Amino acid sequence: MKEHSLWHPVMAANGLTDAPLAVTLLEQELVLWRDATGLAHAWGDQCPHRGAKLSLGRVCAGRLECPYHGWQFEAGGQCVHVPAVPSFVPPASHAARTHAVVEAYGLIWVQLLPDAVVPLPAFAAETDAQLRKVLCGPYDVATSAPRIVENFLDMAHFGFVHEGWLGMREATSIDDYRVEPTPTGLLATQCRAWQPQSNVHSTATAHVEYTYEVVAPYTAVLTKVPDAASVALQGFRESIALFICPTTPETSRVWFRLAMADFDSPDNKLQDFQHTIFMQDKPVLESQRPRRLPLDVRAEVHTTADKASSAYRRFLKQETITFGVC
Ligand code: FES
Ligand code: CO
Repeated sequence: MKEHSLWHPVMAANGLTDAPLAVTLLEQELVLWRDATGLAHAWGDQCPHRGAKLSLGRVCAGRLECPYHGWQFEAGGQCVHVPAVPSFVPPASHAARTHAVVEAYGLIWVQLLPDAVVPLPAFAAETDAQLRKVLCGPYDVATSAPRIVENFLDMAHFGFVHEGWLGMREATSIDDYRVEPTPTGLLATQCRAWQPQSNVHSTATAHVEYTYEVVAPYTAVLTKVPDAASVALQGFRESIALFICPTTPETSRVWFRLAMADFDSPDNKLQDFQHTIFMQDKPVLESQRPRRLPLDVRAEVHTTADKASSAYRRFLKQETITFGVC
């Protein structure tokens, strides 16, 4: 499967208003803009006339206007007005390069190459009315998307990178957990850890259980398995999605989508906890070499604690994913 036919998140949906914005996806420069009906569009950020960046232009009456000679393009990409020759009716060749766009999970998603078979990555908690949704990010990280997915699946770093938060040095041993391949990646269950501060609300060290699911090559979802006490109290539940925009093979833009049974805390309280955790991960992630994930099993060494990561590498290899891996 080609990365260009996958759906990738490129920006927060509420960040796109009445001005065009430039983003990068898979080394391609794109312009994002909204038409008069509020629909988002993603085009190559290059005017077909003389190659100026359309993202430097503006939106006029629901059309995108190029900054250089003022050509106007309607929502479908067709040029409909050339100010220097007002009577000219531009032919079909006078059009911007368009890509498919959808809005989901608080983000704008783009598919560079059309492929109707490729679904948007699933995040079931999004439609659970009992869970409140908050977006965290973006974080620009100097490493490949697969390294970030692996870090998200990895519990053996909790006692070191997240000491006093998600782990502690007195309890670093990883209980055996289960991993099974799925059509979209993998499912890891019975993932358990002793955590001093497992979430924004915890007040004491808790034994927590998670499931991790890779739902697309660069998307993973963590779901906390409620313990008996929290089920009885209808207590805290959470599910967190990791969404990654592969900007280049060695740089990424990251968001977390929090789905939590908490409608009282302000957004920034929930975001601050996630921010603290990810700021602990980021320097380690950016230190890893090579930045591209090695898929040759002999390139790095492994233990049984790494079996989720090994399954993820097998999945990428079988999908022949090539961007951000080596
Ligand atoms: Fe865009 Fe000329 S370069 S209108
Ligand atoms: Co971490």
